[in-house]
Amino acid sequence: MIAMVTGASSGIGEELAKNLASRGFNLILVARRGERLKEIKDKLTSIFDVKVKIICADLSVTSECVRLYEEVKGVRIDILINNAGFGLFGRFEETDLDRELEMIDVNIKAVHILTKLFLRDFSKRNYGYILNVASIAGFMAGPLMAAYYASKNYVLQLSRAVSQELKQNKVNVYVGALCPGPVDTEFNRMAGAEFAVGGASASEVADYALNEMFKGKNVIIPKKEMKALALAAKVLPSKWMLWGAYFAQKARRGDPSEN
Ligand SMILES: NC(=O)c1ccc[n+]([C@@H]2O[C@H](COP(=O)([O-])OP(=O)(O)OC[C@H]3O[C@@H](n4cnc5c(N)ncnc54)[C@H](OP(=O)(O)O)[C@@H]3O)[C@@H](O)[C@H]2O)c1
Repeated sequence: MIAMVTGASSGIGEELAKNLASRGFNLILVARRGERLKEIKDKLTSIFDVKVKIICADLSVTSECVRLYEEVKGVRIDILINNAGFGLFGRFEETDLDRELEMIDVNIKAVHILTKLFLRDFSKRNYGYILNVASIAGFMAGPLMAAYYASKNYVLQLSRAVSQELKQNKVNVYVGALCPGPVDTEFNRMAGAEFAVGGASASEVADYALNEMFKGKNVIIPKKEMKALALAAKVLPSKWMLWGAYFAQKARRGDPSEN
């Protein structure tokens, strides 16, 4: 059994890789930082009886997404986890456009491309799992992280819609979205902010995510507080959620309005 994890060089992706190795999966690990992937490979192969292949790819580049697919398309991959992604904090009019477009390329375009290319193969053989890492942010609009929240809405809704298409057509392929709240990873450093509340550990999120994925749950929300937040986003007036999201983001260290 083989699983491919993008963004496996740190955080949730690294923990998903470790957890999958502990379940006996051979791995294909993808990210830009090759040395980090090599360290993770060495660690995992010294603990678990698994094979690990590493592929360096910059998923913000369309041709790199396609190259990744071409490189592994002859391999029978059972699980694809589109986890690579990052956030960007700040007022929309002030955030750097190039960085934001890079984020859209990784968070949306790469997920879109890889989901489509692998799904075609998985559908033909009527088996496989594609887990897309969205976020609790996917359930709402996020002032001060506007494009990040919007990108995760895309990932969540794309995954839900594709999953429904597969169900209607009785295709035995899983497509789901993982929607964590704050998780302690390198995410904040990359986004240029801190969480206002303490985050969950990446290892508990990874374990919960994989257990729920194997049960066939299509929208996976670790932690009951985050399930309550997703429910609130469905039932409360959207202007209350917008107000709450603004102040939750503003409470992060790095609030641009305090500079
Ligand atoms: N932490 C949270 O609070 C949280 C909450 C909800 C959802 N998420 C989502 O969880 C996912 C993983 O984030 P994390 O929290 O684990 O953060 P992280 O520790 O910063 O990990 C991000 C991963 O994405 C990879 N990545 C970033 N840009 C890339 C690119 N252009 N090409 C290839 N790989 C790239 C990074 O690898 P390289 O830098 O080596 O390329 C790294 O392995 C993201 O999609 C994030 O949006 C995080």
